[in-house]
Amino acid sequence: MEHELSLEFLRVVEQAAIASARTMGLGDGHKSDQAAVTAMRSQMDSVGMDGTIVIGEGERDKAPMLFIGEKVGAAVRDKSRKYPAVDIAVDPLEGTNLCATGEPNAIVVLAASDHGGLLHAPDLYMEKIIVGGPCKGAVDLDAPVAENLSNIAKRLNRDVDDLVVMVLERPRHEKLIQDIRKAGARIRLITDGDLSAGISAAVSNAGVHAVMGTGGAPEGVLTAAALRCLNGYMLGRLVTSKPEHHERLAQMGIKDAKRIYETQDLAPGKNIIFACTGVTGGGLLRGVRFFAGGTRTQSLIMTLEQRKVRFIDSVHLEKGADVRVRFY
Ligand code: FBP
Repeated sequence: MEHELSLEFLRVVEQAAIASARTMGLGDGHKSDQAAVTAMRSQMDSVGMDGTIVIGEGERDKAPMLFIGEKVGAAVRDKSRKYPAVDIAVDPLEGTNLCATGEPNAIVVLAASDHGGLLHAPDLYMEKIIVGGPCKGAVDLDAPVAENLSNIAKRLNRDVDDLVVMVLERPRHEKLIQDIRKAGARIRLITDGDLSAGISAAVSNAGVHAVMGTGGAPEGVLTAAALRCLNGYMLGRLVTSKPEHHERLAQMGIKDAKRIYETQDLAPGKNIIFACTGVTGGGLLRGVRFFAGGTRTQSLIMTLEQRKVRFIDSVHLEKGADVRVRFY
């Protein structure tokens, strides 16, 4: 599955990134999101798979496309042959506001796995700690922040004041931010995008050593899919503060609302493909660049079983073979 499908998913995320990048800075997040969703959906049916969306734009009545349970892939139309059954999780535009305002780190994201390989997470918040491979098992969602930071620093063979922690800038993180500062670590506050932040924490030399705080649970599953490929580590716990949250969990068959999920619980698949393309340039990926004869994109495609992490720089030519492509 990984071998056959990874380049097909590359095409899907590239086209969604190009479409949403056309809306960069227009100040219309809805338009940016729609551009990514429409382009992603239209590419999806040419992929040779029998796909089912398990994390998408929401339930069918709220989302016309890429809704949970939607069947996608060539198998939808072609009944003459058998295609691999694949579960798909998407965030067609992670960082909608970042794209709308032209800020860094908006990305298009897709993860695929064998059937059952990605947790069907409800659209709730999730408490998260995300770290790189060397810190596996060194963090605890219930431990004091200072203790987690001290353990991370030990594993990374540095002092706490050498650490950089990424945190979403939200009022709910006021105490967390105070605790991190008190412990002596440095902070990079981000306005959006804890998924790309999570990937950066698992990549060495990205200058990020952990991501802490509460963000979306669907983004948590997508992060876990990336971390499986990168040998990173995360812990996550759903936030259920209202009775309707418990109803939602019951509908989805989740019995233990307080369960702490590890990376492998969120993305247990044996085969995983993770694909993302930069929309606006950032620490992880360059954004989409338009030029006279075409478009240039940068993507990250990772496969778990094949153990491949590929940064792919594509030039999409529009006006024939005589277009001049510039090297960096
Ligand atoms: P979008 O994909 O909707 O743009 O989400 C961006 C994001 O910042 C995620 O990275 C994060 O997990 C979540 O929103 C946080 O939610 P909230 O903005 O409600 O705090």
